[in-house]
Amino acid sequence: MNCHIQKAFILVLFLFSFFDCKSQKREECQILPTPVVYKRVKGNLYLSNLLGVNKKYWPKGTLNQMESMFNIFHDIQIKDTTGKGFIRLRKLQNVPKDFYSISVSDYIFISYSNDKSLYYAIQSLVQLIKTEDEIKYIPKAFIQDYPKFEWRGLHLDVSRHFFSVEEIKKYLDLMAMYKFNTFHWHLTDDQGWRIEIKAYPKLTKTGAFRDSTLIGHYSKTPQQFDKKRYGGFYTQEQVKDIVAYAKERYIDIVPEIEMPGHSRAALAAYPEFSCSEIRQEVPGLWGVFEDIYCTKEESFQFITNILEEVVDLFPGKYIHIGGDEAPKSKWETCKKCQNVIRDNGLSNEHELQSYFITRIEKFLDKKGKKLIGWDEILEGGLSPNATVMSWRGFKGGIAAARKGHYVVMTPGSHCYFDHYQGKSNEEPLAIGGYTPLKKVYEFNPIPDELNAAQANYILGGQANLWTEYIKDFKQLEYMAYPRAIALSQVLWCNEKPPYDDFSKVLYDSHYKKLSFLDVNYAKSSQRASIISQIHKKGISLKLNSPDSSDIFYATIQSDILDQVIKLNLRVGEELIIKRPEKHVIETKIKFESKNTSLTSEMNFTKHHALGVQVNYLTKPNPQYNYATNLLVDGQNGARPWRGHQWIGFDTSSIVMEITLPEKKKIKALEFSFLESQGSWIYLPQEIQVINISKRKKNIRSLRNINQEHTRLKIKRRIKKLRIQINTFSKIPKGLPGAGHTPWTFLDEIVFH
Ligand code: ACM
Ligand code: ZN
Repeated sequence: MNCHIQKAFILVLFLFSFFDCKSQKREECQILPTPVVYKRVKGNLYLSNLLGVNKKYWPKGTLNQMESMFNIFHDIQIKDTTGKGFIRLRKLQNVPKDFYSISVSDYIFISYSNDKSLYYAIQSLVQLIKTEDEIKYIPKAFIQDYPKFEWRGLHLDVSRHFFSVEEIKKYLDLMAMYKFNTFHWHLTDDQGWRIEIKAYPKLTKTGAFRDSTLIGHYSKTPQQFDKKRYGGFYTQEQVKDIVAYAKERYIDIVPEIEMPGHSRAALAAYPEFSCSEIRQEVPGLWGVFEDIYCTKEESFQFITNILEEVVDLFPGKYIHIGGDEAPKSKWETCKKCQNVIRDNGLSNEHELQSYFITRIEKFLDKKGKKLIGWDEILEGGLSPNATVMSWRGFKGGIAAARKGHYVVMTPGSHCYFDHYQGKSNEEPLAIGGYTPLKKVYEFNPIPDELNAAQANYILGGQANLWTEYIKDFKQLEYMAYPRAIALSQVLWCNEKPPYDDFSKVLYDSHYKKLSFLDVNYAKSSQRASIISQIHKKGISLKLNSPDSSDIFYATIQSDILDQVIKLNLRVGEELIIKRPEKHVIETKIKFESKNTSLTSEMNFTKHHALGVQVNYLTKPNPQYNYATNLLVDGQNGARPWRGHQWIGFDTSSIVMEITLPEKKKIKALEFSFLESQGSWIYLPQEIQVINISKRKKNIRSLRNINQEHTRLKIKRRIKKLRIQINTFSKIPKGLPGAGHTPWTFLDEIVFH
């Protein structure tokens, strides 16, 4: 250690011990992601429009970035000066990876460990500057900071919808602002091939364009198409430009070239590399397609020739090869694929996929690259050095980490930003699911199941932006922000502040920055909302608004009253929806908030089990279980599926018990299921109802369920029921998701 560095290190140690890391007033700090230490010191440092730095001490790239950011955000110019300058630098060693510190006193003093950490310091510094009455200043403070995880990623699917070079650059600028360091660029999929490959010009000439695109949601029948040609691609020159742009912002790009599935666009251009070799168009429908790359030698040649060009374009360590959602039906009947199975002593098509990925891994290894793929690459055996991106929950990531493989956590429950983020009907059409801001904030990439050694294999996390329903950049910004900022907290902060503190900084400071940058961020988390809870007489609705003086006008209509009831409700006041004495009652309530734009219409079915206890002997999948009382809350799940209202199960048998407060004559039970085969959501095969309040159990059962709404006659006085719902153990051949356990989605069991 040279003397200069040693002195600086002692200073850092001194400061570490002097300041309390868990500063009580962390919410005063405007920087997001929140730094490890923020210590406010008395006074402000006032800034002019011209700041002197001694440029010879600065890495050139970082200096350019700083000049540009100071100019854009604060109209401050940087001028070269002799002497120490206004912003002074000191290089450190033996500090945590990517460590920096900033001390704002009568000048600005930055200590940093590498050029990247200096860049992070500049990002923080830019966020610290305030302007009031045209006076610029920084509240004097001391900051120390370094990231928790080394993979802090955002993904973008440019296949389903295409985004221009300028839009990608804005996406990267925003990522850099929030200290993300990995851009996962999903460049190929069924609906469009988006990267120029010189050896195979038809990939972009044919594969980058589709003739028509689905209108509205996949589950809407009949499906309609817009009959408009759609597409685009990036030339290799544009790719290089974007890679360089990302590098200046210390962002690595991980390109994804999907295989063996999600390859219809490539196969539209080169059908000879599929099993059937039959030409098909680039689809304009979403979902999973049966035709995938064949495992014959020619296909490997094709894929590795493509990868040759890809590895040369992307200097980063990782190449993502997809590996998800590859149906095996074509391989099962393809002579050539079956020969590969036989010749290599493989036992089935899952092992064939593993063989496929392992061959690709060997190729990448020779090129000095690391393979990463979605968690399906675990099936049939993980190739030796593969890194796993866990998207179907945490399970795949846990299994991989236990085997000593590196993992990036990106579970659908917290990291799929194509899900809805609010309950309002004004949310733009989305694929489904419900991932509000707070849920993202609660994400922990390290599951409790892992011990400390295994946890070391978790590189970090990432949010995915699949764009089937994200048509343009404005909508992309809406889906990504502010959720990406919550994720930056998860991935950067060693100890993130409570959600309410984060939310306040977001509201007070960052929404203004986003507006200034013309980012169409979502205001869903700021909307007034209606919270439904169990009440002893049924369901209570509590009104919640960021503005405590808000008043809601409620208009209540029901099918047994001629009159419309009008009420004024203050924030926090409850409205009770009671179970009926006799018949089921349909009620419609419209809420209008005085102070915010919220209007909300809710339809209630008041029935005998409203708000009663449901005991799930089979646990719903945690990703699709948003509240404890969903099944008997009087509200039916919306169609198309809007995540928050439905309960989803991924088991072939579902058992639950429902207890009424007292014995009641029940005429019938009405079940409401969701069917969306493309999403592997199927109607069940059988429902059994068992009366367990009597010693002699009465059983009713129903088979051949072929509608989403199904009624089962009961005609008995009952108190406690057990309901068992059986579905396929595996989805039958020929149907989407064949061979996998189907999903069952249920919302509201109405007790008539
Ligand atoms: C995925 O969402 N199919 C990785
Ligand atoms: Zn084949």
